[in-house]
Amino acid sequence: MTTENHENAPLHVHIEPTSLCNLRCPTCYNEFLPARRRGSLSLNDYLRLLANLPTVNDVSLLGLGEPFMNPELLSMAEETKSRGITVRTATNGTLMERYDPVRTLNAFDEIVFSIDAADAELFASVRKGADLAVVSNNMANLAATRKREGLATLLTTNTVLSQANRDQIAGLFELAKSLGVAKMRFVMAGDLASRKEAAMQVHRKRLLAMRIEEAGIEQSLADEVKALGASSGIPASFAGNAPYAPDCWWPLRGAYISHDGGVTPCCMRMDPDDYGFGNALEQPMSEIWNSPAYARFRRELATGGIPEVCEGCP
Ligand SMILES: C[S@@+](CC[C@H](N)C(=O)[O-])C[C@H]1O[C@@H](n2cnc3c(N)ncnc32)[C@H](O)[C@@H]1O
Ligand code: SF4
Repeated sequence: MTTENHENAPLHVHIEPTSLCNLRCPTCYNEFLPARRRGSLSLNDYLRLLANLPTVNDVSLLGLGEPFMNPELLSMAEETKSRGITVRTATNGTLMERYDPVRTLNAFDEIVFSIDAADAELFASVRKGADLAVVSNNMANLAATRKREGLATLLTTNTVLSQANRDQIAGLFELAKSLGVAKMRFVMAGDLASRKEAAMQVHRKRLLAMRIEEAGIEQSLADEVKALGASSGIPASFAGNAPYAPDCWWPLRGAYISHDGGVTPCCMRMDPDDYGFGNALEQPMSEIWNSPAYARFRRELATGGIPEVCEGCP
């Protein structure tokens, strides 16, 4: 992904293939989504979005839902790659057996597996509805296929840290090593819920109770990730609780697009009803990107301010 700033259009987008999900992870607000926010993107609409995003060079087929629940996901990724655009997804890893592994690997530059525990019992509670044996078997199958076919697709992991799994880091490195994971990311559970939905307050309360707020613990987790990254040889990053704004580059170069075309500034603010600047299935993206409200928001962030949208992130 290029890192240069771009005034006139986004270079990187997250596009939500679906907001449907087969799990109920307690850190995630998916289960509290209102019915009107549930749905999936069609391949035809995805192609319309790509045509509306001529400056984009990097797409994450990722949003608030499980991407592999959309049967057209691989076609979307293939269409993206065929245009010379980098494409990745993130998955709960439970549904891979529905797809041919060679096709899955060929479709993406990177597949991120969300793995929040190495202990099977804990995994079942922090990834509610999933079974660690199934997920790690699916990862192992893709890793073996990748090796056999000599493919370059990166298989990586993302772990959301909370009070529930803060003792899992060493076990996660062992699991990653056994599966040949190329890179690991650790993030603290953040407050991504929308402000408007009353039901979200139930999620927010649960999330706040799970969050690691003690600075000393955060530092020791960061140190642990760093040390295990060095000793295991697996590159690993750690994102703590420090507010992303005003140093957040994301909305200056990127945007988030929901399955029904709603454009928000980033993947931490995924509700177009709350944070939306327009609809990319109904308007030219350049018109949305350069609208006075969106331009004002980016200017405020770029000049060291903390726009209202960014308050409380992560
Ligand atoms: C919303 S999920 C969608 C993709 C897919 N269903 C999955 O689980 O990977 C995208 C990522 O957000 C992570 N996530 C869930 N709750 C989070 C939170 N409160 N803060 C930060 N990341 C979170 C998930 O673990 C996952 O890695
Ligand atoms: S984190 Fe992913 S798998 Fe878990 S509920 Fe949210 S969208 Fe579904």
